[in-house]
Amino acid sequence: MSSWGKQVKISIFGESHGPAIGCIVEGLPAGEAIDLDAVQAQMARRAPGQDSASTPRKEADAPQVLSGLLNGITIGAPLCAVIQNTNTHSSDYSNLLAVPRPGHSDYPAWVKYHGYNDIRGGGHFSGRLTAPLVFAGAVCRQILERKGVVLGAHALSVGTVSDSPLNPEPAALAALSTAYFPVLEAEKKDAMYREIETARAAQDSIGGVIECGIAGVPAGLGGEGMFGGVESVFSSILFGIPACKGVEFGAGFGAAKLHGSENNDPYYYDAEGHVKTRTNNAGGILGGITTGMPIVFRTAFKPTPSIAKDQQSVDLTTKENTVLAVRGRHDPCIVPRAVPVVESAAALALMNLPGILNGTAEV
Ligand SMILES: Cc1cc2nc3c(=O)[nH]c(=O)nc-3n(C[C@H](O)[C@H](O)[C@H](O)COP(=O)(O)O)c2cc1C
Repeated sequence: MSSWGKQVKISIFGESHGPAIGCIVEGLPAGEAIDLDAVQAQMARRAPGQDSASTPRKEADAPQVLSGLLNGITIGAPLCAVIQNTNTHSSDYSNLLAVPRPGHSDYPAWVKYHGYNDIRGGGHFSGRLTAPLVFAGAVCRQILERKGVVLGAHALSVGTVSDSPLNPEPAALAALSTAYFPVLEAEKKDAMYREIETARAAQDSIGGVIECGIAGVPAGLGGEGMFGGVESVFSSILFGIPACKGVEFGAGFGAAKLHGSENNDPYYYDAEGHVKTRTNNAGGILGGITTGMPIVFRTAFKPTPSIAKDQQSVDLTTKENTVLAVRGRHDPCIVPRAVPVVESAAALALMNLPGILNGTAEV
């Protein structure tokens, strides 16, 4: 299924080199004004062809809204948007059905779909399918912002270069959420670019980690039974992002090295009488329920599988071992373009927490 969500559901369709890709979003509240220029600005943050850190494929990524909006306001009916594919070089992929790319979906998809999968540009497995996800996320985040929920992400690391950890203050998150390839420390961004360029020049690719923070989430949301906790909701959509290979919340895997006395976040009452914690190792979630502290999570992105370097593969038609040289235009690092994708997935996850829009939870 390429559908996700219960309260607000997104269904994504299309292939990288088909005529168009798009989505249908159901369950959005009626009466919400949507600024389509702001949506386009989010699409532009993810669009290909931005710089040497991204694929040279050029796409305007201008969504055409077919339903669900009247005079720029949601009407309660399914919101459908279509994004044209205009800059395809399908011949670059002609050899890949027979000789699958190591690290990509080609071989398992060939087995599962008996060779009928669309291999061109990665077909339905392509990172391009995250454009409609960003469209939907950009709509959701406008609705969330009106409820005081602000989210933003940055590149925490690329290869061996690490940025400072996020301070999830609303103003800082808002600044991150409009930038292309946001990094907190400017010199670290230069070093990340160098890391990406070195990989690209060596006909290789590189991975990294994106850290996301969400401020303004009330306490007491989520935790719908043992398997419906906030981490489960977030993880299930985040792992839908191609190349996302790990998700951790708060102290995450680092918590495994701590004592309880170090990892537990001590409670206190702030000046307004709200219950807060001195630290936030929980990442804003305990028992699958929001604590009222900012939600903080990190996503690990593997290095782009399509690399120009010769790689060992197999020829599925001759049943012989062979060497593959991948052609086509690819991102040397997925992290810069995936930042708005992670934010968008988080916005959809938030929209699926019961009570997020009606303020029923304790604040
Ligand atoms: C924004 C974005 C851009 C991507 N660009 C590429 C690319 O240029 N070349 C490529 O081989 N994979 C790219 N990917 C990753 C593949 O789509 C992904 O690795 C592949 O579908 C296999 O899925 P998996 O890595 O989740 O197992 C991109 C992913 C994202 C999120």
